[in-house]
Amino acid sequence: MPQNIQFDNTYYQRFYGKTGVHDAEKITHLAQGVHSLCAWWGLPIRSVLDVGAGPGFWSNWYRTQHPKVKVLSTDISEHACTTYGHQRRDISAWSPPRAYDLVICHGVLQYPSNAEVRQAVVNLGRATKHFMYLEIPTKSDFEDVVDAAATDINVHHRAGAWYRKELAPYFVQVGAGLWQSRQSNIPMYELEAFRS
Ligand SMILES: C[S@@+](CC[C@H](N)C(=O)[O-])C[C@H]1O[C@@H](n2cnc3c(N)ncnc32)[C@H](O)[C@@H]1O
Repeated sequence: MPQNIQFDNTYYQRFYGKTGVHDAEKITHLAQGVHSLCAWWGLPIRSVLDVGAGPGFWSNWYRTQHPKVKVLSTDISEHACTTYGHQRRDISAWSPPRAYDLVICHGVLQYPSNAEVRQAVVNLGRATKHFMYLEIPTKSDFEDVVDAAATDINVHHRAGAWYRKELAPYFVQVGAGLWQSRQSNIPMYELEAFRS
């Protein structure tokens, strides 16, 4: 973890909500879009794993809007787990015992070390039956895109190419933050997915 980050109340108050990186309303737009895209591809979402769930915006959306969907939300932070209701798991050390239709890993992998990210990607690969929503700010994002006032910049600034190389054995990028598991049998048109 870079420079002893504490994922405590101060952290979640600082980076979430109206003045933070995102809030429940913004995640509602994103979750609706992801859920609908999966429906477009013919996938009814029955199970969701939210990794590094933090304030739990994604898992709360699924639990309230789609109560029949089986949702597991996890986080490494004791504070997040007790406050927001997640199971305490470090994704670099925990291999989920089953696979989920949709895995969410939003703003998490910029925190662990290189070796931990490599192991986390193996675990995410095993956990994803069809799609993973993934957001990780990269070195180039920190230079050109990220709002430094709202975002935690005390994280690893790694190249996008580094992440792509780690992800490639397990996932194919389908755009807008979505990655399809290589285990998934859902067909994609040639120009829908970046096959290498
Ligand atoms: C920037 S917050 C993202 C929260 C949430 N995913 C969101 O986007 O609203 C990062 C979260 O990742 C969690 N985290 C960091 N490293 C982790 C790890 N190795 N395994 C699981 N969770 C981790 C932190 O505790 C924190 O809650």
